[in-house]
Amino acid sequence: MSKPKVFVTRLILDSGLRLVQDFCDVDLWADELPPPREALLKRVRGVDGLLCLLTDQIDAEVMDAAGPQLKVISNHAVGYDNINVAEATARCIPVGNTPGILTDATADLTFALLLAAARRVVEAERFVRQGKWKTWGPALLLGMDVSGATLGIVGYGRIGQAVARRAVGFGMRILYYDPAAVPPASLPAQPVDFETLLRESDFVSLHTPLTSQTYHLINADSLALMKPTAVLINTARGPVVDPQALYMALKTRRIFAAALDVTDPEPLPMDSPLLELDNLIILPHIASASRSSREQMSRMAAENLLAGLRGERLPNCVNPEVYEKLKVTRASNA
Ligand code: GLV
Repeated sequence: MSKPKVFVTRLILDSGLRLVQDFCDVDLWADELPPPREALLKRVRGVDGLLCLLTDQIDAEVMDAAGPQLKVISNHAVGYDNINVAEATARCIPVGNTPGILTDATADLTFALLLAAARRVVEAERFVRQGKWKTWGPALLLGMDVSGATLGIVGYGRIGQAVARRAVGFGMRILYYDPAAVPPASLPAQPVDFETLLRESDFVSLHTPLTSQTYHLINADSLALMKPTAVLINTARGPVVDPQALYMALKTRRIFAAALDVTDPEPLPMDSPLLELDNLIILPHIASASRSSREQMSRMAAENLLAGLRGERLPNCVNPEVYEKLKVTRASNA
């Protein structure tokens, strides 16, 4: 029997790639950069499965280019704003993602950014390398306290709660805003409305998916509500923050500092005015980049892909309603 055909849009870690190669006829895009749009449209033609990254826009055009035999789309990420899930659902194509396994890595990096921005770690390191360190100084590179401060978490899902668990160790007061949250009773976190969170928090940390409701959630109006001593951390998705508004807020010291693992666009162009700011830390979207998390993501993305190809339920499916639709379609065809 011939193997199912799949397109894998980048070299993923061996733990998942080997599984896919054992079971499938794999077309692998092995470049360092993602496939350009034309190449993506060409290479998906006739595939049974697609294993893609958050850098690939998977929309109706890509699904049309692939053809009606496309059985599964597996995203190597927990976020799936790069995929038109409604379109996949309409075509009964299950979409997989990789939740859970990157929660701790992402929460750890959030805390690394929070501490680094509060205590000006990156700026201080630059100061040393630039030969500016002349002596110990009473007012040299003063930052903000983390211990005992108020942390406002926007989006209180798995990652938001993992950040809260870390904050408990720092004796922080924890607020969260998430109308859809099912909070665990074990964490001393208080639900508040968005404005209260912005007004009362010393640190505002974003952990919400990117949707039409969260696009530019942090804008000039929300930044205006924050304390002048506040720090903003974004390890969610770049477009949740309006970059122009953030630039103005940091430049005019409306807020103390910010730290971003994600930007809009990605990568951030080298002429972005954000890169001029001393009170901003920017990382290249590495929150889940611990070896073990990325190995597990690779494996989970492969397992989702293989399950879809076998016609089995994906272990992690973002649109499980496709299974109801498939049942109805099968029953009406019987
Ligand atoms: C990373 O940003 C992810 O969504 O996995």
